[in-house]
Amino acid sequence: MCGIVGYVGQRPAQGILLSGLKRLEYRGYDSSGMAMVLSRKNSISVRKSVGKIIVLENLLKKRPLSGMTGLAHSRWATHGAPNQINAHPHQDCTGEIAIVHNGIIENYASLKAALIKEGHRFVSQTDTEVIAHLIEKFYKDVPLEEAVRKSLSQLTGSFAIGVISGREPHKLIGARQGSPLILGVGKNEQFLASDVPAVLGHTKDIIFLEENELAVLTKDSVEVTDLKGAPIRRNPVSISWDIAQAQKQGHKHFMLKEINEQPAIAENLLKMRLKNSGVCFEELSISEENLKSIKSISIVACGTAYHAGLVGKYIIESLCAIPVNVDVSSEFRYRDLLIGRDSLVIAVSQSGETADTLAGVKTARKLGCSVLSICNVLGSSLTRESDGVIYTHAGPEIGVASTKAYTAQLLTFYLFALYLAQIRDTLKAQKMREHIEDLKKIPGQLEEILKNQKAIAGLARKHSHFGSFLYLGRHLNYPSALEGALKLKEISYIPAEGYAAGEMKHGPIALIDEYRAVVCIVPRSHVYEKMISNLQEIRARKGKIIAIASSGDEEIKKQAKEVIYIPPCDELFSPLLVALPLQLIAYHIALKRGCDVDQPRNLAKSVTVE
Ligand code: AGP
Repeated sequence: MCGIVGYVGQRPAQGILLSGLKRLEYRGYDSSGMAMVLSRKNSISVRKSVGKIIVLENLLKKRPLSGMTGLAHSRWATHGAPNQINAHPHQDCTGEIAIVHNGIIENYASLKAALIKEGHRFVSQTDTEVIAHLIEKFYKDVPLEEAVRKSLSQLTGSFAIGVISGREPHKLIGARQGSPLILGVGKNEQFLASDVPAVLGHTKDIIFLEENELAVLTKDSVEVTDLKGAPIRRNPVSISWDIAQAQKQGHKHFMLKEINEQPAIAENLLKMRLKNSGVCFEELSISEENLKSIKSISIVACGTAYHAGLVGKYIIESLCAIPVNVDVSSEFRYRDLLIGRDSLVIAVSQSGETADTLAGVKTARKLGCSVLSICNVLGSSLTRESDGVIYTHAGPEIGVASTKAYTAQLLTFYLFALYLAQIRDTLKAQKMREHIEDLKKIPGQLEEILKNQKAIAGLARKHSHFGSFLYLGRHLNYPSALEGALKLKEISYIPAEGYAAGEMKHGPIALIDEYRAVVCIVPRSHVYEKMISNLQEIRARKGKIIAIASSGDEEIKKQAKEVIYIPPCDELFSPLLVALPLQLIAYHIALKRGCDVDQPRNLAKSVTVE
């Protein structure tokens, strides 16, 4: 996710753009920049900097930009390292055009090659720069908006863009497909932004651009059309949110916003990775030969990422017939490891900065292992220590409790396992097709669960007084039980333990009484009957059960009064769906207990020390 702000009007734009950008900082900021149509010369000037927006602010203090038409951007890198050259805005060969972009252009490589053949000179490694050169190519005797429309028709992928030109200094263009973009409608001034907080200080009249719409803004006019140029009538709505609420898109906390982003993130990931009838990873950079030759896999991670790794074990062993070990990083790095050249180490980390995981990767490389990282932050330390990377593209995760990154990690394991099975030929083509079809249903199934979040919230609140929780699951929902317990304990501070349900008789059942809430993860599966026996044992001892089960399951009602249903799915994919109710239970219990959900005590978003 990046942050875009645009302004056209009769006030100096620099301060307006900068303050708007700061209000979008939660969307990511590994670099930022600003472009302005200079009032005197009607030419464009650009300032860019690496790091937080304050760095750009200091640069502008030394080298200000004076003009009344401009663009600004804070970057969350997806293609091209987070450095000055790759920072937005990007320009064409002539410097007459400047553009900012949020999204991923999937066909940028082929477009870039064609444009280079036509003589265009590129300076960055980004996908975005392609758009600037396309607009230059089409910007011949047509208005800017026409050149933009022709350019956008060449793209596949997602975009929200802002465009300005020195040739038409009082015009600002915005357009979107797959990434959000809003218009702020002012008096003798108009605004463009990725999100409402950027403009709320100037106007509450907002137009939410819809899919495949383009806006032409001047200080006195707002025209909206489709991408072919047909006019669309769009009236502004008046926003009642304050800035803080708006940064969470109206949600009370970033955690809740991020929980609700999961269907869209899943949709985007699957679109990126599922091509024709198979799975592809552009950025993997570990050869197929190498992946075919590995004899074992070791997964290393911490916390939630570790739980994703545990699910990954079940998936890879089931689909790829490769033995998988999973360690928490702090143990992996000090163990006498019996791995070497024929082992693949997979490091999982949202931040890519977790000290123990980084140390584990360094240890693995010294032993000659190939290292693949599954990471959410492009250019983070972990990605630079790895032989190959698969990005989870979940966007910045602000809540300390990991939610959308976890789901994106799980999805990545399913996709990677299918990819491995594809190249090692361990899965029949029919089964591959079935699994890919199952994955394609996931975004809609997540959406369906979210439709029920009010009921889940009520159920959670009803159990928020319990002093301790036990989470039980079997097979690949044993890690789901661990994850559910971690979510609850880290934001509500309630003691919560995750257990393999089969372990109950070996100790935990002594804990069961009417003062203990037990979350039982019991979707349809080959271990369903075993889980039902566990529920009966708990009921016999008056434990308070919250069951997470498959919709349509009538038997479960005899075992548990409180049931949260997930859509029926192949049991292999159930951890993806189970994660959502577990996250919502933790969130609403913590909320009910008045805890600081986004920044729980004693915790940090990224543990960069041992
Ligand atoms: C999860 O909700 C926690 N915030 C924590 O356990 C986290 O998963 C762990 O610190 C690993 O972080 P990473 O994914 O950035 O490496």
